[in-house]
Amino acid sequence: MASHFCLLLIFTFFTLVFPSNGSSLSSSKLLPRFPRYTFQNREARIQQFRGDRNEYRYETKFFSQQLDHFSFADLPKFSQRYLINSDHWLGASALGPIFLYCGNEGDIEWFATNSGFIWDIAPKFGALLVFPEHRYYGESMPYGSREEAYKNATTLSYLTTEQALADFAVFVTDLKRNLSAEACPVVLFGGSYGGMLAAWMRLKYPHIAIGALASSAPILQFEDVVPPETFYDIASNDFKRESSSCFNTIKDSWDAIIAEGQKENGLLQLTKTFHFCRVLNSTDDLSDWLDSAYSYLAMVDYPYPADFMMPLPGHPIREVCRKIDGAGSNASILDRIYAGISVYYNYTGNVDCFKLDDDPHGLDGWNWQACTEMVMPMSSNQENSMFPGYGFNYSSYKEECWNTFRVNPRPKWVTTEFGGHDIATTLKSFGSNIIFSNGLLDPWSGGSVLKNLSDTIVALVTKEGAHHLDLRPSTPEDPKWLVDQREAEIRLIQGWIETYRVEKEAKVSLLKRSW
Ligand SMILES: *[C@@H]1O[C@H](CO)[C@@H](O)[C@H](O)[C@H]1NC(C)=O
Ligand SMILES: *[C@@H]1O[C@H](CO)[C@@H](O)[C@H](O)[C@H]1NC(C)=O
Ligand SMILES: *[C@@H]1O[C@H](CO)[C@@H](O)[C@H](O)[C@H]1NC(C)=O
Ligand SMILES: *[C@@H]1O[C@H](CO)[C@@H](O)[C@H](O)[C@H]1NC(C)=O
Ligand SMILES: *[C@@H]1O[C@H](CO)[C@@H](O)[C@H](O)[C@H]1NC(C)=O
Ligand SMILES: *[C@@H]1O[C@H](CO)[C@@H](O)[C@H](O)[C@H]1NC(C)=O
Ligand SMILES: *[C@@H]1O[C@H](CO)[C@@H](O)[C@H](O)[C@H]1NC(C)=O
Repeated sequence: MASHFCLLLIFTFFTLVFPSNGSSLSSSKLLPRFPRYTFQNREARIQQFRGDRNEYRYETKFFSQQLDHFSFADLPKFSQRYLINSDHWLGASALGPIFLYCGNEGDIEWFATNSGFIWDIAPKFGALLVFPEHRYYGESMPYGSREEAYKNATTLSYLTTEQALADFAVFVTDLKRNLSAEACPVVLFGGSYGGMLAAWMRLKYPHIAIGALASSAPILQFEDVVPPETFYDIASNDFKRESSSCFNTIKDSWDAIIAEGQKENGLLQLTKTFHFCRVLNSTDDLSDWLDSAYSYLAMVDYPYPADFMMPLPGHPIREVCRKIDGAGSNASILDRIYAGISVYYNYTGNVDCFKLDDDPHGLDGWNWQACTEMVMPMSSNQENSMFPGYGFNYSSYKEECWNTFRVNPRPKWVTTEFGGHDIATTLKSFGSNIIFSNGLLDPWSGGSVLKNLSDTIVALVTKEGAHHLDLRPSTPEDPKWLVDQREAEIRLIQGWIETYRVEKEAKVSLLKRSW
């Protein structure tokens, strides 16, 4: 499958669609980065997931959706895709619950097949599963095609979090009506940005969903709510805890790369050392490529082998550091880095040469969101971080966004719309039934809720967990702390549903009595 794996590293998909003289956001540091579905060979991948877990069977349907929920302009509707599975549903009359996964920034099939936890627990709850896709991703394209939807800032202007939440609300209300299931409780699920959507949806639409499991949801990574260094500090610590010499080698490598690049034929030499398919144009490209891999490694530092973004061994950072530290005593810093990074980019050993654009900072929907609402300041401070030093510079961020999309960000909008400052006081007084689950190895955990805010706004934190590990399917290799975390989640969700049913039934009997 050499060709298939090579395809993982190519990603030309998005660059086709935005005709503004090839500009793209030039530095990865500018943008918050969630794990992305970067596999071009989508069909093969989906098939593979289905093959692995044949219980992931669903029907694919489309729902005619409002383009703008917040105006009465006569705009064309668009088709929102959703996946549905009713194999285990108790049905409307038994008040069978509806589990809704809040689709995030990618193809909904990828998220559905990577959220095994929901499938695993559906039989126990007798739940109907629905996975509505986020607008402007996958097949849920306004204006009929990706090309039209991504044409310019005007056509992209309906790509917002508020519109996406309204889509979910309108969708599930209509679905319930169609199934005569108006009385059935809805529970929200989501990981990463999807987890943010789940938490925010519970707060904005409390009458539509009774609770939310928000896994690895950095709802506080905005403005100055948390320090901008948290992400890179946590990622760096993940390496340091495995080996301080590994951490130091990586920390020293950035200067070594620049020094090498300044030599005559230096870029050519770096190209050879790192086995790139094409000659490097700049050392920044190499640094970004490495930076991106270390960040993703921290997110997917799972305790057992997994194939979420890349096929990787269990404890992948431990493996990377073993290679970096274990290269021969004569190995140069750059040889060590190459050996280490190969664990991430070439674990299968099937890659002939590396392509740089594994994580293109091109013109995809997430970059648009980062350039409008999702402004998450990121800095890398030289003290604790092994990454190149970088201070968040809003002026240059804004400039990049203008050059790329002709749009100005609104960095204070998220905290105005959803809150964030002093979240403890706010949520304690008006929120309920949200689980914030986090693994402390996940660099995004620093922007999430890590403390219990009330009896029903609960933080489930695992020291050894990474990015939404709890949403993945159970496996025989699951450590006890992960099993315990999932059991706690199940108990809390059961509690929400029972409370809801008791209140519903009390109301029904009260009605009967008053007849
Ligand atoms: C964006 O494209 C649409 C559709 O082609 C067009 O009507 C609109 O004027 C364009 N807007 C801008 C700002 O270029
Ligand atoms: C509900 O039924 C109508 C009529 O068949 C259909 O157009 C609509 O798409 C259905 N809603 C959902 C969410 O499937
Ligand atoms: C270097 O730049 C050229 C021209 O912009 C581009 O075609 C090529 O793909 C770049 N090489 C790499 C490795 O990115
Ligand atoms: C390291 O380099 C020295 C000098 O070039 C050489 O004598 C020695 O054999 C090398 N050691 C290894 C393990 O390659
Ligand atoms: C990937 O690993 C294989 C096996 O170790 C090796 O032959 C190949 O050169 C590696 N590819 C790259 C791009 O380093
Ligand atoms: C921030 O970016 C702006 C615009 O690119 C630049 O003029 C300014 O010097 C930068 N500030 C710092 C502190 O680097
Ligand atoms: C929050 O409360 C739950 C019990 O509902 C407990 O299991 C969990 O450990 C608490 N979380 C933290 C971070 O203390």
